[in-house]
Amino acid sequence: SQSLVIAIDGPSASGKGTVAQLVAKCLGFAYLDSGALYRLTALAAKQQGVAWSDEVAVSEVASALDVEFIGERIVLAGADVSLGIRAEEIGSGASQVAALPMVRAALLQRQREFSTMCGLVADGRDMASFVFPAAQLKVFLTASAEVRAERRYKQLIGRGEKADLALITSDLQSRDDRDRQRTVAPLAQAHDAFLLETSNLSVDEAVTQVLSWWRARR
Ligand code: C5P
Repeated sequence: SQSLVIAIDGPSASGKGTVAQLVAKCLGFAYLDSGALYRLTALAAKQQGVAWSDEVAVSEVASALDVEFIGERIVLAGADVSLGIRAEEIGSGASQVAALPMVRAALLQRQREFSTMCGLVADGRDMASFVFPAAQLKVFLTASAEVRAERRYKQLIGRGEKADLALITSDLQSRDDRDRQRTVAPLAQAHDAFLLETSNLSVDEAVTQVLSWWRARR
């Protein structure tokens, strides 16, 4: 059933993944990181020598994804790619393959299968509008461009990677533009979604707000 679903959408590096995981933990719900599926598709295509612009071939890669979510680990064809799919290059590839309608169609059912009787928190770009339109709570989680660039910067530095704030800012900008302007399932706030602007909120405050909306749902 889609009723026990909390859909959290928002732009890159808004912090929606962190908030969604904590909400899922608090409620004992399952968690779907839908962006990971697009990242996995981009990575698998790259490994197989398939161009990110080849719609038919990439959609076949998406349909055939051999992936397991084991706790926080993501395993693709037997190899742990939890960190590999977080590379900026793969994020950019994900947003390119995500603009292809056949790829989105290939991943739709796989995403819906995460919904269980015990509840689900799903984060992405089109959870509320397209994948779980009957979700009982819909949240559009965002933050200013500056704050999002800083969050991504700290995330990369925290992982011991090199990071350049100016470069991150322009990468985020072009990824968001592509996500907002594509014709299929563009990034947008659903008409029935609550807006959660987190530029001046801590993670705890954002989680508390989502939980209180959930408790107040009709
Ligand atoms: O959320 P994340 O940054 O991991 O997503 C990577 C890319 O996957 C996004 O830039 C977006 O293009 C795509 N995506 C999408 N629909 C979703 C989740 C992610 O198009 N539901």
